[in-house]
Amino acid sequence: MEIKNINIKVQSTTDTSELEQSVQTLIGKAQEAAKRAYAPYSNFQVGACLLLDNGEMIEGNNQENASYPCGSCAERTALHYANSRFPNSIVKAIAISAYNQNGLLDEPITPCGMCRQALLEAEVRSEKSMRVILNGKNRTYILDKATDLLPLSFDNSKL
Ligand code: THU
Repeated sequence: MEIKNINIKVQSTTDTSELEQSVQTLIGKAQEAAKRAYAPYSNFQVGACLLLDNGEMIEGNNQENASYPCGSCAERTALHYANSRFPNSIVKAIAISAYNQNGLLDEPITPCGMCRQALLEAEVRSEKSMRVILNGKNRTYILDKATDLLPLSFDNSKL
């Protein structure tokens, strides 16, 4: 039996002002998008902002429903809208922020499994790395690529 270690690089900062301006802008837009979320059932408001290769910044937030499974997470709201407007564009980066009843989460929001799979599909399809910025009040993580969120992932190369 062999042991295989899978290493993921996660950059971590407690001070977003040290990040490049475009990343700070993306984080600000993700936070603003989160405040507009429709999340009356969970009261957990999530916002995402994508940076596309054409320069567009596309925001999305979670949209809930009384029939709970009908809801959509912020990441997939943003991804699907971006893909519907700009089907051939590449997502260069995504920033994600979230608020609970106490305000902006202290620690970085970490996307759900379904959103990780959706981000992976966009990245695999574009053949370019998508930076993932996970924002919290006291700490922000930056990953170089969406596949880092989902080790041993499934994608269309396996079909
Ligand atoms: N949610 C997101 O929008 N993104 C995530 O990454 C985690 C969860 C939403 C789904 C639901 O509306 C609420 O947060 C509570 O799970």
